[in-house]
Amino acid sequence: MLVASLWRADFPAIAALQRQDQTYLDNAATTQKPQALLDALAHYYANGAANVHRAQHLPGAHATQAFENTRHKVGHWLNAGDRGQIVFTHGATSALNLLAYGLEHQFDSGDEIVISALEHHANLLPWQQLAQRRGLTLIVLPLDADGLIDLDTASRLIGPRTRLLAVSQLSNVLGAWQPLPALLAMAQAQGALTVIDGAQGVVHGRHDVQALGCDFYVFSSHKLYGPDGVGVLFGRHQALKQLRHWQFGGEMVQDADYQHASFRPAPLGFEAGTPPIAAVIGLGATLDYLAGLDQQALSEHEAALHAYLLHGLQARNGIRLLGSPQVALVSFVVDGVHNADLAHLLTEQGIAVRAGHHCAMPLMKSLGLAGAIRVSLALYNDSEDLERFFEALDQALELLR
Ligand SMILES: Cc1ncc(COP(=O)(O)O)c(C=O)c1O
Repeated sequence: MLVASLWRADFPAIAALQRQDQTYLDNAATTQKPQALLDALAHYYANGAANVHRAQHLPGAHATQAFENTRHKVGHWLNAGDRGQIVFTHGATSALNLLAYGLEHQFDSGDEIVISALEHHANLLPWQQLAQRRGLTLIVLPLDADGLIDLDTASRLIGPRTRLLAVSQLSNVLGAWQPLPALLAMAQAQGALTVIDGAQGVVHGRHDVQALGCDFYVFSSHKLYGPDGVGVLFGRHQALKQLRHWQFGGEMVQDADYQHASFRPAPLGFEAGTPPIAAVIGLGATLDYLAGLDQQALSEHEAALHAYLLHGLQARNGIRLLGSPQVALVSFVVDGVHNADLAHLLTEQGIAVRAGHHCAMPLMKSLGLAGAIRVSLALYNDSEDLERFFEALDQALELLR
């Protein structure tokens, strides 16, 4: 079966990588960029850069308008309602750190923060460190055999001391959608705040944060085919009001004296200093590009490619998949083969996949693994990419076994 991508030619780097004999299958780490984004960056820089929100001159007005248009587009992309609920950060990691510092005063010693066993370090370490600073208890929800957060145990562990729940929408290792509605309902029944790490989830399909009902949702632009250096924090108005300011400087201030200052509310109050202006404008162009694609065709393409990958791996001896991946990525280990050796031989053959702990060390340890290989797919991949991967995999395994 052939799975072709309708959108491959929109991403010039794919042809460039092919000329370097590289097959890019590390899309959960970061993605290649559409021409529409390159055009937007070139247009912004070629027509006059300016700082935002402070200059009264024409270039400043243009930059501010393009910047704020992206806020509007992100709000629309997430169905966030009012765009004042969209805060630009430097990535998912900085959004989660913003929350862990901005909410610190909300916790008393003995309060509980609940995460899950599959969290990326970005959604583990900020909470772990907050717990250490404030004498809180970090509760870790275990997974079931399919790599889903176990709801029975969750219903016992989420209780009256739970003040915050922070979980991933889609695991970057296990590729499984997590049961968010049930988890959010449990946390909300206890009056806890809810944070969704959408870094992987946002890339696959459209998600409606109002329907989801979370307090906060974060993601990074670079995984969604946009520029790096910019991330998004969505927060419901009521939730944003609970944040204390955490970084201080230009833009975020309302009034300042030498000894005292007052600060703007969100979003600008949480965007201290010059933001990544070009990257934000580029994210807007990327969202325009993505919004113009046939969403049905996209999800069918992703499903077909994922099935192709799963089928090919399952057809080979000694390959063990981690969990029951549902979309976009598969992590696996091979009996008797060290993942670093396999990764090395794949790299030598021009296959760009990820090997190691995938920034989820505690998860790997709980699975008894030093690491795994992860193949992750994007809309520009096709079955020929996967055929090249399988060929390289067979060659590598022949050498290693
Ligand atoms: C699930 C998940 N959360 C958070 C992050 C952190 O994203 P960033 O490094 O862009 O801040 C990643 C990145 O791999 C991720 O996969």
